[in-house]
Amino acid sequence: MRVNCTVNGTDQSADDVWEGESLLYVLRERMGLPGSKNACEQGECGSCTVYLDDVPVCSCLVAAGQVEGRRVRTVEGLSDGEALGPIQKAFVECGAVQCGFCTPGLVVQAHDLVERVPDPSDAEIREALAGNLCRCTGYEKILDAVRLAASRRADSR
Ligand code: FES
Ligand code: FES
Repeated sequence: MRVNCTVNGTDQSADDVWEGESLLYVLRERMGLPGSKNACEQGECGSCTVYLDDVPVCSCLVAAGQVEGRRVRTVEGLSDGEALGPIQKAFVECGAVQCGFCTPGLVVQAHDLVERVPDPSDAEIREALAGNLCRCTGYEKILDAVRLAASRRADSR
């Protein structure tokens, strides 16, 4: 089947998609967007998180056919042109990236939080990121990055 959707503001289509194929597979293998990572493929780790119509979802759990005519935004779409976007920058500055496998999903999830909640508490940050697993950082630097991004976002409002 053919799948048509908008990805990061650009119309995209993929041909010969198998009905059981995931959005994650289509993004990575058919559309040349390898930012979203494939770790568990069963909705447990959050490394594949993307926006689907402005709501963060695990793209490994979304069937390709479900995105027909809808809007997808990936971690690549959160950059500022060729430069890093504010959340990405905060992760780098705070040392919240080690192997980087979890990072794209965390960046999307943190972006959603910072856009929705002007001054998130630590409890709100932990709750928002609860579905995103990291095996390297111990999470403290990730929390620092989200606090930094949130305070900068608040200053710019
Ligand atoms: S790869 Fe999708 S949640 Fe782990
Ligand atoms: S930085 Fe390695 S899993 Fe998070």
